Amino acid sequence: MYGPWTKLISRSRRQLGKKESIGVGLLGLGVVGGGVARALTGRAEALDTQVGCPLRLLKIAEKDLAKTRASQINPDLFTTDPAEVIADPEIDIVIEVLGGEHPAMELINDALGRGKYVVTSNKEVMAKHFPEFLSLAKDKGVDILYEASVGGGIPLIAPFKQNLLANEIRTIYAIINGTTNYILTMMASAGVDFSSALKQAQDLGYAEADPINDIEGIDAVYKLVILTTLAFRVEVHPDDIYREGISRLSSRDFRYAKELGYEIKLLAIAKEQDGAIEARVHPVFLPQDLLLAKVDGVNNAVQVEGDLVGRLLFYGQGAGPAPTSSAVIADVIDVAQRISHGVSITPMLRLDPTKKIKPISEIETRYYLRMSTVDRHGVLAKISRVMGDNLISISSVIQKESDISADVAEIVLMTYPAKEQAMQQAMREIEHLDVVREISNFVRVED
Ligand code: HSE
Repeated sequence: MYGPWTKLISRSRRQLGKKESIGVGLLGLGVVGGGVARALTGRAEALDTQVGCPLRLLKIAEKDLAKTRASQINPDLFTTDPAEVIADPEIDIVIEVLGGEHPAMELINDALGRGKYVVTSNKEVMAKHFPEFLSLAKDKGVDILYEASVGGGIPLIAPFKQNLLANEIRTIYAIINGTTNYILTMMASAGVDFSSALKQAQDLGYAEADPINDIEGIDAVYKLVILTTLAFRVEVHPDDIYREGISRLSSRDFRYAKELGYEIKLLAIAKEQDGAIEARVHPVFLPQDLLLAKVDGVNNAVQVEGDLVGRLLFYGQGAGPAPTSSAVIADVIDVAQRISHGVSITPMLRLDPTKKIKPISEIETRYYLRMSTVDRHGVLAKISRVMGDNLISISSVIQKESDISADVAEIVLMTYPAKEQAMQQAMREIEHLDVVREISNFVRVED
């Protein structure tokens, strides 16, 4: 009757003394922090009703005095020292919305170490320190919640922690970076090149002045680490995830994609097959008729397939102060209800140490390959011989344009599923053919 899970659950629940009111401290008053502070103060009455006792924002740590002055929040709440917020004995829940690894990691460790609950929107610190935080929270009988770290206000963490638990998750295909999705949408719909689309995204405030984290897929990797850990119970670090950004894509790739019936998206992909897990972030050719291929602009969408539930699609705004504060406040309410009812539930996630992430060389997928060659007889024969020698089967070929005066042709190949290692080897050989000027681009294809 009582199995090991029963023991785990009973160890994980503690009866606490009920509280008269619950104190909240906020670390950071940036875009997300401002939204959270506004929602906490503006909806105080409704939140108190939901929680069952008063929920009080007691302190806010913000170093930038201009932000505090502009905030219209009671100036007595502000301090420039985050440690003061964490040390305040009246504060039960620390909300960390500073972003970045440091000092967020130290502050979260300090808060958990003092037995405080933590709510964070910080994907980088979660991606880099997830297992340590969970284990410290468990030791101290508290919890760390991070719904806002992936997909802004879209419910993604809670489904993996609760609703999908009965499933073996098979695949996750995710558009989890709004900035790059906006840029790719502009390149596809307006035919503009990468740098003009990036400039437009910056002018509209969708891309930062230094856009590297978004356009090189680093932000998407952090989010994929969190989803992969939850979905497949594997310990994964950002460095384990293969990553390519979108800056190599040209408007020519979009023209060919359209002609071949595809959209180009930056996808975060995680799959489990026979105990081996693939986790990668890179541009992908997606068939135009897939719902995921129709997700445009700054929106995010995550497609999850479970063995029981089938295919699900979570869609919505993946960033911005209001959607992100929706997720942060939901976590705060969850924790506050537990505190107010005198029950503590610590993290339940158990990682399987036998599971590992596959190196990219071992994946198998289809490929789009665009190259510039001399415009002469026998060129295609040489290229297809290399592909055949590497056991790669070609599914279609386009020789679209050729500049007769310059003796240049552009050839596009689509392949059937092939091993990445074989494809990389074939590309090295093709590049050395005397008839090939350059491999202009290659993009993986997911059907
Ligand atoms: N830069 C991120 C994006 C913000 O574009 O999605 C949300 O993490």
